[in-house]
Amino acid sequence: MIGRRGILKGIGATALASATGASGLRARPAKIAPLIARPPLKGGRVLDWHFTARERSARLLGPSGPGTRVWTYTDDLMPVLRAHVGDTIRARLDNDLTEHTAIHWHGIRVPNAMDGVPFLTQSPVKKGESFTYEFTLPDPGTFFIHPHCNESGQTGRGMTGVLIVEGDERREPDADLVLAYKDWRLAEDGSWLPFETTEGASRAGTFGTVRAVNGIGSASGDVPAGGDIRLRVLNLDGSRVLEIGVDGAEAFVIAIDGNAVAPFPLETWRMGSAMRLDLLVRAPKAGQSFKVIDYYSSEPWTLGTYRSIASAQKARAFDPAILYATDLPRANLAEAERMSFTFSASSGSAADMATKLEPNDPLSKILLDGLCVRDKTFWAINKASWPTSDHRQLPAPLGVLQVGKSYVFELMNATPHHHPIHLHGHTFEVLSTSRLARPKHFADTVLLQPKERIEIAFVAREGDWMFHCHLLEHLEYGMMGYLRVA
Ligand code: C2O
Ligand code: CU
Repeated sequence: MIGRRGILKGIGATALASATGASGLRARPAKIAPLIARPPLKGGRVLDWHFTARERSARLLGPSGPGTRVWTYTDDLMPVLRAHVGDTIRARLDNDLTEHTAIHWHGIRVPNAMDGVPFLTQSPVKKGESFTYEFTLPDPGTFFIHPHCNESGQTGRGMTGVLIVEGDERREPDADLVLAYKDWRLAEDGSWLPFETTEGASRAGTFGTVRAVNGIGSASGDVPAGGDIRLRVLNLDGSRVLEIGVDGAEAFVIAIDGNAVAPFPLETWRMGSAMRLDLLVRAPKAGQSFKVIDYYSSEPWTLGTYRSIASAQKARAFDPAILYATDLPRANLAEAERMSFTFSASSGSAADMATKLEPNDPLSKILLDGLCVRDKTFWAINKASWPTSDHRQLPAPLGVLQVGKSYVFELMNATPHHHPIHLHGHTFEVLSTSRLARPKHFADTVLLQPKERIEIAFVAREGDWMFHCHLLEHLEYGMMGYLRVA
């Protein structure tokens, strides 16, 4: 059995850069040259996509197991959609579910009206209704889609999909493999267990009973011996933290949440709900295998096993710098405004719910649907909890920001639990972390360790943007809010 690796060693020693505050992290290893800029775009295609959210049947426990009534966007259990940076997506969603839904394009810097948050950015797409999302893909990378209402119930039943935006490669890898991790909460007869429990919602989340990659079981396959294998690992589970390592091959981290980083050797990398990790692996000699393993669980669990098969290609030196540099707005740290957010347990008192919008604010007239709120809260951001069913009004924003201005957010975890914190519509830079060493990098979701303090920086984009913990029961039970950028 393979032992658990050093849990707090997020990255390899050569790339280890400890937090040094707002000024950022120490220099990267000298031998890796900076990534070069992506050439300018030459115009994109218009891609017409069609999603029908409805109940379908799947055998999640294996081909001879019982059937389960899943909810999906397409006939595939884990669709992998591919587009190119600069393409325009025109995606029609038809809703055949019994409740309203939407599509949130996690990590994509969409215009606010395309962000897929019922009540905040669009009307909910009710049963029998349709909505067409249309936007141009601004950045390449590894993203995903999911609904933004009753998330534990809808994604728990299967509503998710991988979205790969190509155009970040200087050189094509020899294989491009997706490992989309997501557990199922199933009883032995294939029926659903409750997606939420008080125990889970008030602590580390309710875990699935069946672990799965790309829908069912573990992944496996053949790869060309000596080839460069791009692995896109996505944690699409609503609760589980993964600690990803590769056994049997040399592996470099090449992108985090889809954003290229100067490659560094993978030791292990910790991923909360919604986080993505792109690796470049040098496949071993023919006949040998390598594995992608989660070392976080008490027994390591294999997400994928890949066997090298003989190939005609001749070996060249392993150069993990296959991606172009990111092309993202960078905050001006000297002029940035600082704001601080504390993630804590809620006081549970209705008085703490921030339902204090100006009376003439149009949002105050919108009633929240009972499906988007729960009947109690356990969690809060800056002492404000996302409303319960007793308070069906959009709360006041957690912060009011100015379009185009730079911000540094200080995120503080006042709890003994992990919280993967996500900001919609922005790709922020993780400037410093107090507990788990990470190189400075761009991300849309960052894992706050228990009691950790993290600083992120970004340039504000116009709109109302959700800001929340991505552990689904935490957001359902209060750890969610939004920022107004105007
Ligand atoms: Cu995957 Cu509100 O986000
Ligand atoms: Cu949380």
